[in-house]
Amino acid sequence: MSYILRLSLLLNFLQRTLQVSTANSPYYTAAVVEYFPVQEIGLSPKDKTLKNVNNYLSLLNEVTEDIDIVVFPEATITTGFQNRNRTILLALATIIPDPSKNIVVCHQTSENYSQYLISLSCGAKNRAVYLVANVIEKRICTGNKCASDNWDFYNSNVIFDRNGTVVGRYRKYNLFGEYTLNKTSKAELSPFTTDFNVTFGQFICFDLLFDTPANALLRNGIRDFVFPTMWFSELPFLTALQAQEQWAYENDVNFLAAGANNPAVGSGGSAIVEGSRGAIIEDIIAQGDSKIYVANVTKRTPRSLLTSVETKITTEEIDKVALTLDNFFLLKDNLTDYAFQLINTTTTTSIDKSLCHGSGENILCCQFRVNLTVNSVTNGAQNSYNYAFLAFSGVRTFSGTYNGGIETCAVVACTNNTPATCGVRFSNYSTVSWPITFQSITIKGNFSNVLHKIQYPNSLRSNLRPLPTTNFKWSYENISQINSKKRTLALIEPENRLITFAIFGRDYSRDSDPRFSSSSHYSIIALVYCLFITLCVLLFK
Ligand SMILES: *[C@@H]1O[C@H](CO)[C@@H](O)[C@H](O)[C@H]1NC(C)=O
Ligand SMILES: *[C@@H]1O[C@H](CO)[C@@H](O)[C@H](O)[C@H]1NC(C)=O
Ligand SMILES: *[C@@H]1O[C@H](CO)[C@@H](O)[C@H](O)[C@H]1NC(C)=O
Ligand SMILES: *[C@@H]1O[C@H](CO)[C@@H](O)[C@H](O)[C@H]1NC(C)=O
Ligand SMILES: *[C@@H]1O[C@H](CO)[C@@H](O)[C@H](O)[C@H]1NC(C)=O
Ligand SMILES: *[C@@H]1O[C@H](CO)[C@@H](O)[C@H](O)[C@H]1NC(C)=O
Ligand SMILES: *[C@@H]1O[C@H](CO)[C@@H](O)[C@H](O)[C@H]1NC(C)=O
Ligand SMILES: *[C@@H]1O[C@H](CO)[C@@H](O)[C@H](O)[C@H]1NC(C)=O
Ligand SMILES: *[C@@H]1O[C@H](CO)[C@@H](O)[C@H](O)[C@H]1NC(C)=O
Ligand SMILES: *[C@@H]1O[C@H](CO)[C@@H](O)[C@H](O)[C@H]1NC(C)=O
Ligand SMILES: *[C@@H]1O[C@H](CO)[C@@H](O)[C@H](O)[C@H]1NC(C)=O
Ligand SMILES: *[C@@H]1O[C@H](CO)[C@@H](O)[C@H](O)[C@H]1NC(C)=O
Repeated sequence: MSYILRLSLLLNFLQRTLQVSTANSPYYTAAVVEYFPVQEIGLSPKDKTLKNVNNYLSLLNEVTEDIDIVVFPEATITTGFQNRNRTILLALATIIPDPSKNIVVCHQTSENYSQYLISLSCGAKNRAVYLVANVIEKRICTGNKCASDNWDFYNSNVIFDRNGTVVGRYRKYNLFGEYTLNKTSKAELSPFTTDFNVTFGQFICFDLLFDTPANALLRNGIRDFVFPTMWFSELPFLTALQAQEQWAYENDVNFLAAGANNPAVGSGGSAIVEGSRGAIIEDIIAQGDSKIYVANVTKRTPRSLLTSVETKITTEEIDKVALTLDNFFLLKDNLTDYAFQLINTTTTTSIDKSLCHGSGENILCCQFRVNLTVNSVTNGAQNSYNYAFLAFSGVRTFSGTYNGGIETCAVVACTNNTPATCGVRFSNYSTVSWPITFQSITIKGNFSNVLHKIQYPNSLRSNLRPLPTTNFKWSYENISQINSKKRTLALIEPENRLITFAIFGRDYSRDSDPRFSSSSHYSIIALVYCLFITLCVLLFK
């Protein structure tokens, strides 16, 4: 190697070192990866894992600037094998060393570590970056009712530091079915601290909808999160970015979400969100593909000192994205039981409506005020949405895997005049016209002020992105006499591509596992669930 070359490499290295964030930096540079796993039929499961990790590291190398932390999605190394038999799981799973042991997996020869874990460790080291990946972990069973092969399997995150040392590990607690995997007896809180003086909390996909570990990390003061996910978007309240951003907004945390991409089954959606300032990056790739997104994330400063993220996006830009999403598969929530009132759009005065749902101590009353204008349709498109007021206080199933308490007040787009048509999309976006512009919407609800209830500001446009944070106001008043919070969500900018505008609330005290509850719908739910998993397995195989 020539002297000059060596010098330039050295300079390059020094420059690198200088650009990495430190404890004093006002921001850190983060990357999230949306990843579409390799699809080649005929590759062995093991070769697929290696190819996926090679692709991970190639994406990382596309970034020329120095980054401090990179997050990869859930289940995209061992894709398609999460729900397979134990022989296959065992062949693909890896031991993850105890983070307190400070083990650098790169260059280890122990057969305990799968080759992909070693590659990930070397990748973190080569790029001097904190790296978050999601794998199938195996661990010798120590309980008294072990499987005959004596292994436990987990859906786990592993975190490497800039040296390739394992510094974090988390085992998914709220499994979305995933019945071949184990679940820890308690949710593990597994924060990790970085050399740029930020402590990250971590959890995985479905965990987002539950109290622990997510809210427990918040209660412990954690304000930055990494979130590997394979989210199956569902209309009208839980498409990927909608779910991620409402969580980050309400808790006002930095949130790094990396989504597995597979439009045919409805998974996709990655974002970097600075709490109530909004998303600085958000995307759902419409046609099976992978991409790395990089942003400088402001370290936790009092939010009042920061302005909202400016996301001026034109109606043309919204439509351009929405047009590409016709074939993006979406689940749909069952709103049949919701209290429902169609909005009369022939009236020019503002509309006031109160809707209640539920009974006894679970009653929820929602107050709505809407002011809208109707424009004549000019593009000759034959379909347009109706809108309805909806209220719900009850229990829903998440694709048969779990039951969750829900408290929601919403304005939702419907293709017809029944609740079952709310949250349904017209199949061809170019046939849709948008005559209705909401000038303002105000939604109010009283929610009892208890730890097991939480509410989020929830919104969605036709492009499957939430509204910019500049376009709504989210506030509350304490009503101490009745130990309640009066929540208000207000639309403060005109809006003509609306799908959902809602207070989306969870009541964890009404959660349950359908396998242990006496639901009469159980067999139907189980059937739906099996079909769903079969679909996923087939498509990811
Ligand atoms: C690191 O973070 C802690 C807690 O956020 C803060 O108290 C401390 O001042 C920070 N250290 C530096 C060097 O900025
Ligand atoms: C697990 O699945 C593989 C591939 O489908 C099959 O060859 C093997 O026999 C199965 N093993 C068990 C124990 O069912
Ligand atoms: C491999 O894992 C087993 C089970 O955890 C452990 O007993 C053994 O010490 C490990 N071997 C190495 C070389 O780390
Ligand atoms: C892990 O799951 C297996 C298979 O379901 C089960 O036999 C085993 O008891 C579980 N391990 C623990 C520690 O619960
Ligand atoms: C990486 O290793 C070097 C050399 O052993 C050490 O000085 C440094 O503190 C380590 N960095 C981290 C982030 O652990
Ligand atoms: C992060 O900030 C640095 C310094 O201002 C700048 O050079 C870099 O381009 C920024 N990176 C991104 C992704 O915005
Ligand atoms: C929706 O819920 C209603 C009432 O619980 C039930 O009768 C109906 O079968 C459900 N529809 C679907 C498609 O699951
Ligand atoms: C809608 O409002 C208009 C104007 O107030 C009224 O004439 C009409 O009857 C209403 N339609 C329905 C279905 O309530
Ligand atoms: C509705 O909004 C329009 C346009 O902003 C405004 O002119 C009108 O006064 C509003 N009407 C009511 C009843 O609030
Ligand atoms: C969607 O509608 C447009 C306009 O009517 C038409 O040209 C196009 O062929 C339709 N696309 C599909 C996939 O049906
Ligand atoms: C909330 O409670 C307060 C005080 O009891 C009451 O005045 C208000 O009407 C309630 N609002 C809703 C939306 O139920
Ligand atoms: C509501 O009450 C809580 C706890 O009592 C308090 O911390 C908070 O500042 C109050 N918020 C408002 C808007 O009054």
